[in-house]
Amino acid sequence: MKTIFITGASRGIGFEMARQSLSCGNRVIASCRNPDDADELNSLMDSYDQLDLLEMDVCSNDSVNSCLSHLYSKRQPIDLLFNNAGIIDWRNFHEITEDSFARIYQTNVVGAFLCLRACLPCLRLSGSPLVVNLSSRLGSIDLRGETQLGGAIAYQCSKSGLNMLTKQAALDLKALGICVVSLSPGWVKTDMGGDQAKYEVEESVRLLRTTIENLCLEDTGTFIGEDGLPIPW
Ligand SMILES: NC(=O)c1ccc[n+]([C@@H]2O[C@H](COP(=O)([O-])OP(=O)(O)OC[C@H]3O[C@@H](n4cnc5c(N)ncnc54)[C@H](OP(=O)(O)O)[C@@H]3O)[C@@H](O)[C@H]2O)c1
Repeated sequence: MKTIFITGASRGIGFEMARQSLSCGNRVIASCRNPDDADELNSLMDSYDQLDLLEMDVCSNDSVNSCLSHLYSKRQPIDLLFNNAGIIDWRNFHEITEDSFARIYQTNVVGAFLCLRACLPCLRLSGSPLVVNLSSRLGSIDLRGETQLGGAIAYQCSKSGLNMLTKQAALDLKALGICVVSLSPGWVKTDMGGDQAKYEVEESVRLLRTTIENLCLEDTGTFIGEDGLPIPW
C-alpha cells in the first residue's frame, strides 16, 4: 500500500487518480481548495477509510505549509506527490492579459514548486519517494508547430516552466533518493480538456498509473507521455 498525496483532487484527473488509487488499496490524501464543495470526494469518504480530505490552495504558501506541516507532525510518509492542480486560459499571444498570465504561472509553476518543497519532509519518510508533475505536450518546446492545439500561450509557457522544475528538482533531490518526473496525461475529457478530447479520464489515469508503477530513480528528470514513451523537451 502506497500513500498518495494529490493536489487539485476535487475533479478531473486529480479526482480520478484518487478514486482509482483507493480502489487498488492505496491510502490517499486528497487536497483541494474547497473540501465542502467537493461532492464526489465526499461521497468517496463513505466508501474508503483510507481517504483523507484536506483543504489546500496551491497558490497560497500559508495554505500549502499548513497542510503539509500538519501531515509531517503526524510523521506521515508520502510515497507519491501527484502535483496535479492546474488551470488554463486558451487566449493567444494577442489576447492574453497580464493578470491571467500571472495567475497561470502562480498555479501551474509556483504552486507546484511550493507543494514539492513543503512535501519534502514527508517524502523523505518514504522508502521510494516519487514526484509526478502533471505536464502537457503543449509545454514541449520541441513539439511547437506539430500540434493543432495552440494559442494558449500562458499555459504553454507555464508547462515548459513546470518541466524545468522537474529537471532541476530531479538534480537537486536525486541524492535524497527522490524521483521527479513530468507526465503528460494526453488530451483528456475533463472540464479543462473538453468533451472533444481523445481520452476518457478513467483511461488516461489508468495509463498514467501503469507508467507510475514502472518508474524508478533512474527515470528521474524525464518527460513521459500517457503512452509510456518519452516526450521531447
Ligand atoms: N485535460 C487535459 O486534456 C490535460 C492535458 C494535459 C495536461 N493536463 C493537466 O492535468 C492537470 C489536471 O487537469 P484536468 O484536466 O483534471 O483539469 P480540471 O478538470 O480543470 O481540474 C483542475 C483541478 O485543479 C484544481 N485547482 C485549480 N487551481 C487550484 C489551486 N489554486 N489550488 C488547488 N487546486 C486547484 C481544481 O480545483 P477547483 O475544483 O477548486 O477549481 C481542479 O480540481 C492539470 O495540471 C492540467 O494542466 C490536462
